[in-house]
Amino acid sequence: MIPRFGRARRDRTLAVLEGFHPLKHALRFGAELQEVICREPDELARLAERLAPELAERMGELARPVASELFEQLAPLAPSTGVMAIATRPAVDPLALLRARRDAPAILLEDPRDLGNLGACVRVAAAADAAAVLCTGSHDPWHPDALRGGAGLHFALPVARLEELAALEQRSGPLLALDPEGEALDPGALDPAALLAFGTERHGLSEELLERSDARIRIPMRAGVSSLNLATSVAAVLFAWRLSPGNEPPPPERRARPELF
Ligand SMILES: C[S@@+](CC[C@H](N)C(=O)[O-])C[C@H]1O[C@@H](n2cnc3c(N)ncnc32)[C@H](O)[C@@H]1O
Repeated sequence: MIPRFGRARRDRTLAVLEGFHPLKHALRFGAELQEVICREPDELARLAERLAPELAERMGELARPVASELFEQLAPLAPSTGVMAIATRPAVDPLALLRARRDAPAILLEDPRDLGNLGACVRVAAAADAAAVLCTGSHDPWHPDALRGGAGLHFALPVARLEELAALEQRSGPLLALDPEGEALDPGALDPAALLAFGTERHGLSEELLERSDARIRIPMRAGVSSLNLATSVAAVLFAWRLSPGNEPPPPERRARPELF
């Protein structure tokens, strides 16, 4: 089991889910599970009954109990909820995503450095029913820490790395750079087909991305505040747009956009 989880961490076709919430969202959004292990089946059953009763039976069938000492060795910080899993990552073609006609904005994170923050961006993008999250830079957006930060909501929308900014030339909608020096955001006027670009935590957007963008947009802030946290700024823009007239959230029964996966 230790080599299996070790290999899964290095395998870019797999996702290691650490904890109950990533597993819950993976199941809700149709992930293919390859392995589910738990420390204590009764503990998992109690959690599931409380937090996701509709999944309790399925979790009980899938989860294999392992010894506590082994469980502790399967992650750098074993989750307190006592459950871990290995799932198949949904295949995503970032170029096809860029070219697709979209009815909700997609997010582009330029070289995000903090995996927890990256996960928080995925989580809020899923909540706002954004079309996708793309990332540049060296970090894997499906890293277990990002999955933890995103509570496993990577399975709710396409999430992928974009290898080169040059691919942005193939986009179907406008590229809008979120930049504290831009024009004030008008949420009602935001093009639903837009690709919204957010910069790296410390340095913001690169010159190259700013030059490629069609416009720069600012989230207005009180004087003296230099910037918002990355995930907070993604949340502010997406929900300003979602709460503006005509952009109401989707009906609760809609689970995913199969056409974009
Ligand atoms: C922590 S900020 C980066 C701060 C960086 N020192 C800068 O000046 O851009 C991370 C990203 O969040 C977005 N952001 C934060 N506050 C913003 C604001 N008020 N308006 C627009 N974008 C903002 C930008 O995309 C920024 O690159």
